[in-house]
Amino acid sequence: MASNNNHRSIPDLNGTSHSHPTPKKPKLSSSSFITPSEIQSEFSHHDTAVARINNGSFGSCPSSIISAQHNWQLKYLRQPDHFYFNHLKPAILHSRSIIKNLVNANHIDEISIVDNATTAASIVLQHTAWCFREGTFQKDDVVIMLHYAYGSVKKSMEAYVTRAGGRVIEVPLPFPVSSNDEIITEFRKALEKGKSEGKKVRLAVIDHVTSMPCVVIPVKELIQICREEGVEKVFVDAAHAIGCTDVDMQEIGADFYTSNLHKWFFCPPSIAFLYNRKNPKNDAGGSGDLHHPVVSHEYGNGLAVESAWIGTRDYSAQLVVPNVLEFVNRFEGGIEGIKKRNHEAVVEMGDMLVKAWGTHLGSPSNMCASMVMVGLPTSLGVKSDSDALKLRTHLRDVFGVEVPIYYRPPRDGEVEPVTGYARISHQVYNKVEDYYKFRDAVNQLVDNGFACTLLSN
Ligand SMILES: Cc1ncc(COP(=O)(O)O)c(C=O)c1O
Repeated sequence: MASNNNHRSIPDLNGTSHSHPTPKKPKLSSSSFITPSEIQSEFSHHDTAVARINNGSFGSCPSSIISAQHNWQLKYLRQPDHFYFNHLKPAILHSRSIIKNLVNANHIDEISIVDNATTAASIVLQHTAWCFREGTFQKDDVVIMLHYAYGSVKKSMEAYVTRAGGRVIEVPLPFPVSSNDEIITEFRKALEKGKSEGKKVRLAVIDHVTSMPCVVIPVKELIQICREEGVEKVFVDAAHAIGCTDVDMQEIGADFYTSNLHKWFFCPPSIAFLYNRKNPKNDAGGSGDLHHPVVSHEYGNGLAVESAWIGTRDYSAQLVVPNVLEFVNRFEGGIEGIKKRNHEAVVEMGDMLVKAWGTHLGSPSNMCASMVMVGLPTSLGVKSDSDALKLRTHLRDVFGVEVPIYYRPPRDGEVEPVTGYARISHQVYNKVEDYYKFRDAVNQLVDNGFACTLLSN
């Protein structure tokens, strides 16, 4: 993470930096940290009937941030022209400068704010499509992605890469997984395959934290391999990363990197950043020609400026980043402390569940962040994706437990493999009782002789 200097550079509207004293992180004595009852009150809008152990899917937003967002919305509605001409651009710029410091980017121009990781992936892959169409890339040149890439990103590959003449190679990943080496080996094999027909590997799309099943990918090591093997560009889909795992642009070394702030950074839906490494020269697969897919009159003024105005809409989620920073700094250790405690708690809860059910975790604790895959008892009979969805719905409707379920097909020769895994999350509002509720629900299903075949479609 970026260190706190005494001064920060705040760019004006033209991007020129001016030095301002850095507001000191409030030095809270242990008694002034946010209290458990204040945390409860910040999330009192959550449905108390539900054990929400799925922060990963949609994140969460405290009520103080919802009020801050509402203030921005009122500011706009009170006098839209004044808001547009005097507030919007500087406020977005301020959010960008906070994100730049949080992720240790080199320059504010490297950070654009977009709606979500889905939009960021479209921006990067649309650029790849142009490279094919305009002849910078040749037919059948290769783009690599992980087999566990997020569904919408896979569709984007179809829409922007395959249709434009590119060849997509998927890296199969083992699950359950026991070491980074297993992932690195598969990645190397896929690169070899990509290069074996004399084709160029133009882009690698690598998740930082895969969605389903969830595993923290050794991105830094994979990017290093990409550099050694001549892969032109690397895009990291880190939809879950900020607030969940370490995010440092200098350390990771990607060309493009996106993370949502509405998942693990307490922003309201929806906001993500897209990092686009500043490149002195506009090379072939260059990063200087990215554009927002929604074209406005800002087209051609740089991705960050294009993204800051994609027509009339509600921009308030992008404007509360300073408030969120204040919110996380009420916790001991700020966002780093939150991340660390979430990790420790989710691993502890995962261990408690697998002990109760006689199963195992999907990865060792060093390969998970604030989410972990927990093996379900085999007697539940999760035998397809449809079973997994039905079981998830059943847990919600009958037991008030919200948790995504993953179906993992058995491999040849496996005897009684675990085929159902739950992805549990831990966020600051979670309590041990949420996980006990889940444990007891599953125990009750097992005791009652439940199997997914009993659920109708
Ligand atoms: C790895 C990954 N990529 C992309 C996304 C899409 O995020 P969003 O719906 O906010 O665009 C997700 C959502 O969970 C994800 O897990």
